[in-house]
Amino acid sequence: MAVAWVQRRVVAALLVLVAVQVFAGGGGGGRGGVSAFRLWPKKRTRKDTEGAGNDDTQQLLMGGADYMDGQIIPSSAVAAVNAYASSSVSARECFSGKLPSGMYYFGAAVYNSELIIGGGFTPTEKLSFSDDDSPMLSMNAVNHTFKWTGSSWKVWNQFNVTKGEAHLAVLNGELYSLGSCGRQTRMCLEKYNSSKANEGWHLTKNQLPSVLSFPGVIADEKDSSLFVVGGVQNKHTTRVVAQYSASTDKWFALPPMNIARKSPAVAILGNRLCAVGGVQSTLQYSSRTLYMALRSAECMFLSAPSAGWSLLPLLPEARGSATAFVASNKLYVAGGVHVPLHWLSNRKEDDDLQATVLEVERRPYVSKLDSLDTASSWTNASDSSRLFISSSTLVTVPTKLYSQLCT
Ligand SMILES: *[C@@H]1O[C@H](CO)[C@@H](O)[C@H](O)[C@H]1NC(C)=O
Ligand SMILES: *[C@@H]1O[C@H](CO)[C@@H](O)[C@H](O)[C@H]1NC(C)=O
Ligand SMILES: *[C@@H]1O[C@H](CO)[C@@H](O)[C@H](O)[C@H]1NC(C)=O
Ligand SMILES: *[C@@H]1O[C@H](CO)[C@@H](O)[C@H](O)[C@H]1NC(C)=O
Repeated sequence: MAVAWVQRRVVAALLVLVAVQVFAGGGGGGRGGVSAFRLWPKKRTRKDTEGAGNDDTQQLLMGGADYMDGQIIPSSAVAAVNAYASSSVSARECFSGKLPSGMYYFGAAVYNSELIIGGGFTPTEKLSFSDDDSPMLSMNAVNHTFKWTGSSWKVWNQFNVTKGEAHLAVLNGELYSLGSCGRQTRMCLEKYNSSKANEGWHLTKNQLPSVLSFPGVIADEKDSSLFVVGGVQNKHTTRVVAQYSASTDKWFALPPMNIARKSPAVAILGNRLCAVGGVQSTLQYSSRTLYMALRSAECMFLSAPSAGWSLLPLLPEARGSATAFVASNKLYVAGGVHVPLHWLSNRKEDDDLQATVLEVERRPYVSKLDSLDTASSWTNASDSSRLFISSSTLVTVPTKLYSQLCT
């Protein structure tokens, strides 16, 4: 229903901006700032990006958002990704059990051999406002989680707080969820221990100290850590990177990236943490913040963080809200969009809050970087499947579970 709010005159103004590859997001006028665009999930673990494709695991690309005729269409598809069999990556829709209605930007993880999804947003027709009064798209952050039973999704344990932009990861045998808490422009971290199921989800003692939304998030299960990369802080895209250690329940700052990124696609390749694309607030237009999708990508050695981040070759095309993964030591980035969404006026007292979703340039294909080290460049590596859309959640599942899910 977002299209119902399209204001023709603003569309006209913005088409000019689209032409110069800029899109508006977030508020302006000194109030909003944090973009309302909430479609950018980043759920990956090191296992997801590294371990797939061997005999034990398979990768699934779940949900995401597509854009047609100016509308955002959450996908309920689940696709199997194959980046190993040939030089091009293919995805086929598998899994008859569609995702619960229109949820997107949710997290997914396999916990105790079961596939769990949770959080994210469901579309509504109501507008809401975050703590700093920035408008949020007509979506409700949800607190529910679901478990796949083998034949259907069953409601599982509710989060302690509602969580859009949700990410799930298993660290030290406990299930963690990191996501925007309620309407607030900060992230909340909770965990769940199946041996203490009666305690349900509860917030960890130490929370990410800074205000932040729309970071890229990836878990390193080997290191029992979560990495939180970029995002939006106090109305500006940020270069900051943080690490949470589940073993000590502590947060650490890591060196900032070269480039501020909101919602970069993140992956861990070898010992490197990489951030690909994303968007950046670049300039003000009519007192509003404008965001631009990025072609740059960069990595940092986790073994030598003090050396900081090094830039990779530029992507062939700018991508925001893409999904990154690693297969056979190659870095892939799938899906994403260029001009996803515009939010304009953001005054709370405006009844006719103006929001518009424009035609977006989709990136329904995959780019591949063969090596992080040499002067390699990105190549097209997909069968141009429409399954590669923006904001999909990538999850690695054991082959045994996969063969039940994907027939
Ligand atoms: C979860 O959300 C539902 C409805 O949105 C609400 O009634 C319930 O209180 C919430 N539960 C928690 C734990 O926040
Ligand atoms: C949320 O967490 C707090 C503290 O851990 C706990 O007291 C409360 O019962 C939890 N609420 C829900 C609905 O899980
Ligand atoms: C999960 O709970 C069980 C039972 O209390 C406990 O033995 C185990 O250490 C907990 N796991 C973690 C990682 O704390
Ligand atoms: C990559 O492939 C897609 C789909 O076939 C195509 O639309 C796009 O232009 C290609 N991009 C490049 C840089 O070749």
